[in-house]
Amino acid sequence: QASTEVDVSAVQPGQAIKTVWRKQPMFIRNLTPEEISAADKVDVASLRDPQSLADRTLPGKTNWLVTLGVCTHLGCVPLGAAAGEVKGEFGGYFCPCHGSHYDTAARIRKGPAPKNLEVPEYEFLSDTVIKIG
Ligand code: FES
Repeated sequence: QASTEVDVSAVQPGQAIKTVWRKQPMFIRNLTPEEISAADKVDVASLRDPQSLADRTLPGKTNWLVTLGVCTHLGCVPLGAAAGEVKGEFGGYFCPCHGSHYDTAARIRKGPAPKNLEVPEYEFLSDTVIKIG
């Protein structure tokens, strides 16, 4: 299956859901205003993989962060998408395999991973339905 459609209407700010696309875990997160401002405060040039939140989201939809749930170090599934999971030192995702910390834009901030969590190709079919792929 080339693409998958996900209904995100139940995902409140501060929550995320996991789904699967092309057999890979995917995270879809509805960022709070605080998480957005934390991401926007970072000096992009200082990042290991320099991207702004705007680079990683769609115009007018910067609260919706859609990424693969695959650590860019050796491919473990990071924690932080499910309720109660630790989010790491930068409030996004934490990979427990070797300690990679991702921020609220899912950018690598600490630990061995070389790249930000990958953003797939996706679009909004409506206000509440995302099509990935
Ligand atoms: Fe995530 Fe190594 S696989 S830190």
